[in-house]
Amino acid sequence: TTAPLVLGIETSCDETGIGIVRGRTLLSNTIASSMDEHARYGGVVPEVAARAHLEALEPSIEQALAEAQVRLEDLDAIAVTSGPGLAGALMVGIGAAKGLAAALDKPLYAVNHLVGHIAADILAGDAESAPLEYPTIALLVSGGHTSLLHVRDLTTDVEMLGETMDDAAGEAFDKVARLLGLPYPGGPEIDRAAVGGDPQAIRFPRGLSRASDMAKHRYDFSFSGLKTAVARWVEQQEATGEPVPVADVAASFREAVVDVLVTKALAACKDLGVPRLLLGGGVIANRRLRDVALERAAEAGVSVRIPPLSLCTDNGAMIAGLAAELIASGRRPSTLAFGADSTLPV
Ligand code: KG4
Ligand code: ZN
Repeated sequence: TTAPLVLGIETSCDETGIGIVRGRTLLSNTIASSMDEHARYGGVVPEVAARAHLEALEPSIEQALAEAQVRLEDLDAIAVTSGPGLAGALMVGIGAAKGLAAALDKPLYAVNHLVGHIAADILAGDAESAPLEYPTIALLVSGGHTSLLHVRDLTTDVEMLGETMDDAAGEAFDKVARLLGLPYPGGPEIDRAAVGGDPQAIRFPRGLSRASDMAKHRYDFSFSGLKTAVARWVEQQEATGEPVPVADVAASFREAVVDVLVTKALAACKDLGVPRLLLGGGVIANRRLRDVALERAAEAGVSVRIPPLSLCTDNGAMIAGLAAELIASGRRPSTLAFGADSTLPV
């Protein structure tokens, strides 16, 4: 028997992702982003994202099929993200997936976006490095989520350990970039601005890291206090009439985000006796985050996996890959009765 040929549709935020896999083999992964349309608003506008998905879906599916050199009729199953994410955006992908599955008379799998991010690692595996060993701790950081998960089995046993109580880490980068007068998306801009800056110049707060917070929110994150602290610091500096040392502010802010992400992820590894850490989400593009994670994980005896960035940012291949795993594990397909669930639990 050959592994199932699955087409995955991802529309939970601003990326229209279509991916095609055969089992664990990645055949195509097309991504159309409406990022540019959101830039002037400084963040993703749900209505704009939903409309952009509607326009991008058909050409993206055509492109993914062409790149994978398969026809719609060849597919064994359709997979789609049903949550968490922006309800209107999710609905566009779900509608398309249901239509395709019904028209082709193929099974349909509704899958969880966060678990999809973890599944990305399976597609990144090769002969030398066995992908996704269990158990693993997964740290997912993007503009929409900041989550720490305990993965014992991708298809049956993923536990949410903690997540952000307010802003996502990427969102914090976007907001701080904005207050420094830098464009959206803020992550890459902060990175550029931080060149030559001193990460120790300003000690910005590490959210939910005090002993009293750690008792209740050991694996949770909070970035809104950090954003406010940066805003205050910049205001006070401006009030003195001195120029704002943007490189130092950017480097110190980034250090605070990276420190708290890595510290909490490694605390989970230690507490739960898990010697593996998987990173995912668009913020993984941050070189400093990867470097600090690799360095401190090595000291702690934890191995780190980082899928290629094209599989870390939101994409359809991870959704198809997760469905292929579910099929292999004997999971029944979804009925047509499901809808978008913006807060879908893992
Ligand atoms: O996963 P992703 O592409 O999509 C969504 O969240 O929809 O992540 C985008 C987020 C944005 O908030 C962006 O500012 C952030 O990832 N980001 C970065 C970097 N590159 C992108 N954050 C920090 N450093 C970066 N180099
Ligand atoms: Zn995501």
